[in-house]
Amino acid sequence: MATISQKNALNNNDNIVIICSKNNSFTNFNLSKAEIDFVKKEITKNDKKVVFINQLNRFVFVQLIETKNVNYLTIEALRKAASKIHATIVENKIDSITVFDAEHKTAETIAFTEGLALSNYQFLKYKKDKKKEENSLKSISIFSKDITSAQINELHILTEATNISRTLVNEPQSFLTATQLSKEFQKLGKEAGFSVEVFNKAKIKALKMGGLLSVNLGSIEPPTFTIMEYKPKKAKNKQPIILVGKGVVYDTGGVSLKPTPNSMDMMKCDMAGGAAVGATLYAIAKTKLPVHVIGIVPATDNRPGENAYVPGDVITMYNGLTVEMLNADAEGRMILADALAYAKKYKPQLVIDLATLTGAAVAAIGTSGIVAMGTADEKTKNKLKQSGNNVFERLAEMPFWDDYDEMIKSDIADMKNLGGPYAGSITAGKFLARYIDYPWMHFDIAGPAFLTSKDGYRLKGGTGVGVRLLFDYLKGL
Ligand code: BES
Ligand code: ZN
Ligand code: ZN
Repeated sequence: MATISQKNALNNNDNIVIICSKNNSFTNFNLSKAEIDFVKKEITKNDKKVVFINQLNRFVFVQLIETKNVNYLTIEALRKAASKIHATIVENKIDSITVFDAEHKTAETIAFTEGLALSNYQFLKYKKDKKKEENSLKSISIFSKDITSAQINELHILTEATNISRTLVNEPQSFLTATQLSKEFQKLGKEAGFSVEVFNKAKIKALKMGGLLSVNLGSIEPPTFTIMEYKPKKAKNKQPIILVGKGVVYDTGGVSLKPTPNSMDMMKCDMAGGAAVGATLYAIAKTKLPVHVIGIVPATDNRPGENAYVPGDVITMYNGLTVEMLNADAEGRMILADALAYAKKYKPQLVIDLATLTGAAVAAIGTSGIVAMGTADEKTKNKLKQSGNNVFERLAEMPFWDDYDEMIKSDIADMKNLGGPYAGSITAGKFLARYIDYPWMHFDIAGPAFLTSKDGYRLKGGTGVGVRLLFDYLKGL
């Protein structure tokens, strides 16, 4: 991972990436006449968007800003461009680089730097020869007349938080049990300055959180229920905003076992919602955003142990509603329901849950975005969608019609945990909606949480999806 810092002066041998437009004169960067001619030829004749010059004493990259028809696409193109340059940086064993904002393009320069920092992430904890595999890049600086040190500090913290979320997802459950996950949240709280309370199994039993307890029945490891709170004195909101994250540290499907190798291999990612919630609290506390935010993460593994609950069982949830469990693999909604019902006691202004909830969400839109639905007002939805575009974690809103309520009706209980053959991500959302009495949004991140192949600065494995989105939204309040 690389640090991001501010640079106030350029030295002759600093490696640089020049962020500029096509019609720059290229006379301000200490390039020779021949080099300038080369850059111009590459851009005009060969239609290159990036030009690389090895000057022996320094490396120079010229990165063009390509203006798209909407601004957020221009910005995203720069994040993506950074991931390409990153490959060349690592190939050439470059350890530090300065991003040069040559034309007062603040947002573009920040986006490029963000893409570069996110591309440099690695998860090497379990490699014996870490040093050998480590990326060369250690420090990224920004040289700009306009970008403030506060902006640079924020960018550093936000990429760090995204990487924290990625690491939590990449950790296998052999390390990251529910107990360990809550310990990781406690560490984050200590470091960033927010409070963390962890309910243990006895407390969860005393509270009668039937959803979380029943999913945990097939497990040897105890469940946890973590509450994180960041409450600055000058908070802009009177009622808290609550983030709820699914914390299934491993999903075998329970007795409704998933087939392996296909669908179980990546199921360590089933706590990606919880990871995003913890990492978002880390980011807002470290940057001292003036918002009162509470994070709630119910956590357990989902296993088919001897005492596991079975299809047909009826469970009484934390709020007293009963659920006929018909598929042990639909466990996310069981534990989230208790957390959402618990959130009522805070009288929240808004609750957003993030969960790798359904394969149906992946079937609907793939890994390109987040399946969203909920009861929040249009203004809130639009702001969230705007944030989704800003950080390129786009929201695809699903219909939330009454029709879908019919599909989770049970003959013997208040609802069942399984919908029909269609609209699986919506019926999962409809299930959750039975546990709320406040403005609420549900983000199904099953698609973008974990990638099986690299996509630009979104690397293979955990992506940290949700952290930059929530931060952008909370910052805009
Ligand atoms: N954790 C899975 C959803 C998932 C799928 C996450 C793919 C990431 C990638 C969830 O618990 C699950 O198994 N959902 C079931 C629900 C069904 C049984 C109603 C599904 O989507 O198949
Ligand atoms: Zn499942
Ligand atoms: Zn799951």
